[in-house]
Amino acid sequence: MLVGVPKEIKNHEYRIGLTPAAVKEFVTHGHSVMVETNAGDAIGFTDQMYTEAGATIAPSAQQIFAEAEMIVKVKEPQPNECKLLSKGQTLYTYLHLAPDATQTELLVASGATCIAYETVTDGHGGLPLLAPMSEVAGRMSVQAGAHYLEKSHGGSGTLLGGVPGVAPGKVLVIGGGVVGTNAAKMALGLGADVTILDRSLPRLRQLDDIFRGQIKTVFSTVDAIEHYSSKADLVVGAVLIPGAAAPKLLNREHIKAMKPGSVLVDVAIDQGGCFETSKATTHQEPVYTVDDVVHYCVANMPGGVARTSTMALNNATMPFGLALANKGPKQAMLDDKHLLAGLNVHEGKVTYKAVVDALGEELGLSYTPAEDALK
Ligand SMILES: NC(=O)c1ccc[n+]([C@@H]2O[C@H](COP(=O)([O-])OP(=O)(O)OC[C@H]3O[C@@H](n4cnc5c(N)ncnc54)[C@H](O)[C@@H]3O)[C@@H](O)[C@H]2O)c1
Repeated sequence: MLVGVPKEIKNHEYRIGLTPAAVKEFVTHGHSVMVETNAGDAIGFTDQMYTEAGATIAPSAQQIFAEAEMIVKVKEPQPNECKLLSKGQTLYTYLHLAPDATQTELLVASGATCIAYETVTDGHGGLPLLAPMSEVAGRMSVQAGAHYLEKSHGGSGTLLGGVPGVAPGKVLVIGGGVVGTNAAKMALGLGADVTILDRSLPRLRQLDDIFRGQIKTVFSTVDAIEHYSSKADLVVGAVLIPGAAAPKLLNREHIKAMKPGSVLVDVAIDQGGCFETSKATTHQEPVYTVDDVVHYCVANMPGGVARTSTMALNNATMPFGLALANKGPKQAMLDDKHLLAGLNVHEGKVTYKAVVDALGEELGLSYTPAEDALK
């Protein structure tokens, strides 16, 4: 199969669909890979590295879209990219179609087979192609929090680890899933005093085992949120209710009651945020202050560490990508229900129910189960 990797064109997106190491895997399995010139330059993956891995370098995205049988990307295709897709071609990338009528309409019109990273499943009820980005965001949240706790960055001037003779800073993590666990690991590594709140008792038991009593686990109630947030130097918002907007767990009054110069990092901002005062920010202007509390609400945190994120994403996407190339997309999906769950659009049919639930009426779309669409 000829696999194509165009340069990402979304504003400030430096990740790339395949690393040179991933290209080498595809080539070793007998496939050809075409990478757009300079596509990985920003994160240190040069054309020469791609050539050495066995790829050919294309001068333009147009050539890649015209020739490749499968396009591997990171972000959802922009309208001009959607228009370059055609029937018989497979698109393998993050799509997030439900809130995006324009993209859905264009992908349906293209006739292409569109597989969304974010809806591929695993055998444990998880989303394996979303998890690496949650790991990155969770780890980054504490790094960002520690930075903005510095006096010159608007914070209270607190060092999370403390020093001998001075107590460490207090970190509260609300939501103990993938983001929360990774935030707690980083905070603990820095020597902070860490508390995790979650509503799931089984999850709190697992966390207690993972951290062997080095962090406090507390059942998430309004009372617990009020109590621990008022004492915290850094609060990380890491909750998720699948398919729903994030619940607002800290209201304006709670935030007013926090210590001046404390920091909120709302990782759940991509689902609307879990603090009343949160509004999405960018890597260019990551923070703002409300009632003396610094708010960091970057909606695409992994983009800030694009090199690590690209490698983490490739580790997760490559096995499925290889299956698509080795068996052909149709057979690969029919053989693996978890990969099949990633199919969102196929030859003009929408095969992911949540997309039809969100946009069916507006766009006049009906739902076709993925298996039926492929047959
Ligand atoms: N900003 C970014 O760049 C970025 C990157 C990755 C993930 N995210 C977001 O981070 C959030 C967390 O993702 P995740 O992968 O860790 O999800 P996850 O499903 O692994 O974990 C969510 C946890 O929240 C808990 N929870 C739900 N309601 C709660 C409540 N009221 N109080 C306490 N805990 C509660 C759940 O029990 C679960 O353990 C999501 O909104 C995700 O979209 C954002």
